[in-house]
Amino acid sequence: MSVFESLFGLSGKVAVVTGVMGRLGGVWTEALLEAGAYVLGLDQDVDVVSEPVQTLQSKYSGKLLCFKADVCSRAELEDALAHCKGQIGPPDILVNNAGIDQPPGALGVSHTMDSVPFEVCEKVFGVNTLGAFQCAQVFGKSMIESGRGKIINIGSMYGTVSPDSRMYDHIDMSPSFLKPPAYGASKAALVNISNYLATHWAPYGIQVNTLSPGGVLGGQDSTFKKKFSDRVPMGRMAYPHELKGPLLFLASEASSYVTGVELVVDGGFTCW
Ligand SMILES: NC(=O)c1ccc[n+]([C@@H]2O[C@H](COP(=O)([O-])OP(=O)(O)OC[C@H]3O[C@@H](n4cnc5c(N)ncnc54)[C@H](O)[C@@H]3O)[C@@H](O)[C@H]2O)c1
Repeated sequence: MSVFESLFGLSGKVAVVTGVMGRLGGVWTEALLEAGAYVLGLDQDVDVVSEPVQTLQSKYSGKLLCFKADVCSRAELEDALAHCKGQIGPPDILVNNAGIDQPPGALGVSHTMDSVPFEVCEKVFGVNTLGAFQCAQVFGKSMIESGRGKIINIGSMYGTVSPDSRMYDHIDMSPSFLKPPAYGASKAALVNISNYLATHWAPYGIQVNTLSPGGVLGGQDSTFKKKFSDRVPMGRMAYPHELKGPLLFLASEASSYVTGVELVVDGGFTCW
């Protein structure tokens, strides 16, 4: 067996990826399929299948299933677990990727600090922090029964540093775009929940880590890309495929003695 296969191979493993239809959902899913895993992709709406997921379903026939589950609904997650066990087996890996990011325009309106609605903050925490925790509860329970499991919570560098509003001041919005405060706060809380679960579930053979990307290329305007890249020691944003290696590390035998860690993949952004 090659060193790649023995350390990073996931043949026969079963992975669950939440938020599969989003920009990064297809990236994590492709990495897991390429390493040999079966994947159950969850999203709040699976009637419209994203282009990357369609492509992967044709390439890995029968190895990528999709199922509707809102991470805020315990009942839907329990149904998803039953579907997973019945169709591809008990879960070995959970990628808690579903999240509400809030790039410019996502809310349709912009806010001043004093007018950010309570409900918007509540929704972001509800999905990014509590939804991820609820997924860990449901799929982690099954992992405890199996005596093994890897949970990877997708954080963000904005869990560590506050967004620099100067990166957005060229965008024509009134009031100026404010990256909502709940986003980074929800990701910081997710790191804490990862560490909490890592300590409580280590005796059951479950490892829980956070993978926190920096800025990933994907449709941003050129001024933003330039401003952002100037702030990164490596001088650029990440290509989506550069997240695959870090994910496979945390999902595989290669990280057999790693738990409660935040792996920040940001080109050095948070060093400055
Ligand atoms: N793209 C980036 O540059 C970047 C950088 C750092 C961190 N992240 C994190 O990576 C993750 C994925 O980001 P993305 O860019 O793919 O976001 P995205 O908005 O493209 O996709 C998010 C997906 O999550 C799903 N989702 C939202 N709420 C849900 C719910 N309640 N239940 C189930 N599914 C739900 C959405 O339907 C969507 O398919 C997020 O957690 C985000 O915070 C992204």
